[in-house]
Amino acid sequence: MKIGIVGATGEVGRMMLTCLLEQKIEIDELVLIASKKSAGTKVAFAGKMIEVEELTEAKMKDTFDYLLFSAGGAVSRKFSPIAEDAGNTVIDNSSAFRQDPRIPLVIPEINGSVLDNYQGIIANPNCSTIQMLLPLYAIHKVNKIKKIVVSTYQSVSGSGHKGINSLLKANEESIYPRKIEHNVIPLIGSLLPSGYSEEEEKMRFETQKIFNDKEILVSATTVRVPVLYGHSESIYIELENSYDMEEIKQVLRQAESVRFLEEDYITPLELGDSDDSFVCRLREGVDDKSLTFWNVANNIRVGAATNAVRILKFLINR
Ligand SMILES: NC(=O)c1ccc[n+]([C@@H]2O[C@H](COP(=O)([O-])OP(=O)(O)OC[C@H]3O[C@@H](n4cnc5c(N)ncnc54)[C@H](OP(=O)(O)O)[C@@H]3O)[C@@H](O)[C@H]2O)c1
Repeated sequence: MKIGIVGATGEVGRMMLTCLLEQKIEIDELVLIASKKSAGTKVAFAGKMIEVEELTEAKMKDTFDYLLFSAGGAVSRKFSPIAEDAGNTVIDNSSAFRQDPRIPLVIPEINGSVLDNYQGIIANPNCSTIQMLLPLYAIHKVNKIKKIVVSTYQSVSGSGHKGINSLLKANEESIYPRKIEHNVIPLIGSLLPSGYSEEEEKMRFETQKIFNDKEILVSATTVRVPVLYGHSESIYIELENSYDMEEIKQVLRQAESVRFLEEDYITPLELGDSDDSFVCRLREGVDDKSLTFWNVANNIRVGAATNAVRILKFLINR
């Protein structure tokens, strides 16, 4: 199988390489692509050093079995359609196509079936949305969720290399609107006329698209915190019907790609290499139809690379 990674030198791109190995994807040819700046540098993969190539329109017209894009929205908007027109399947990690009604937005454990008979560009959801929806979908299947109120605590690696450098390298220019060291910034992306930020609107829109439910209400507050890796979320939900807590616990114990901690909690520093979305501190909300819990996951894995490679694996196995 021939696989190409656009953005192979980035935080997500490098993790995609790890996930391809971990998920035992059989690869005959791997093409690593990045900007001109990285062309000629070498990246290790499965005991070999692979030279990074510069992204060009001509390269996108080559034949690939799968092309994974993780180089930002502008790069995806320009180059993914060229690859698609050449007959390639593109799994795109940016927000470029998520709102396009023709493009499937996929978490394979939830709505992989939208890929039946589909060929073309596939969008990977936002990191905060993926880790939230993995446990919520398990509950939604047994008792419809009507409302979600979520506050996120998002690590700087969610903004890639530049986010990490903004926290670690005090003398480098920061990409954040306010100081991030020893601080908390309650704005991710631009502020929109609705009063919500771009990141908050993504969580609302993407939940409705992935659950195929325009009625589900979502109010998000997304916050950047001085954590390197791992996003945390405080999630409150209202259900259609009253519930039995033991049934909810059983659902979470069995949910795919979810780890339910019944007695303990987890912090971002303790996530390690886990590909699961963690649920802890589960408790009743304000009444017998509401629930609240704490959710933590590795944003580079669960929120990006792992989901992209799970989509790829889903396509191979279908
Ligand atoms: N970090 C997360 O938690 C996360 C989660 C979900 C989605 N995403 C999305 O994933 C994408 C990448 O994020 P990241 O965190 O990996 O960012 P990053 O660490 O900044 O890496 C960006 C990658 O894109 C490449 N790139 C940038 N401009 C390019 C151009 N003009 N042509 C070709 N390659 C170019 C870079 O290559 P050079 O090294 O050559 O500059 C690098 O490989 C973004 O769309 C982001 O929104 C990130």
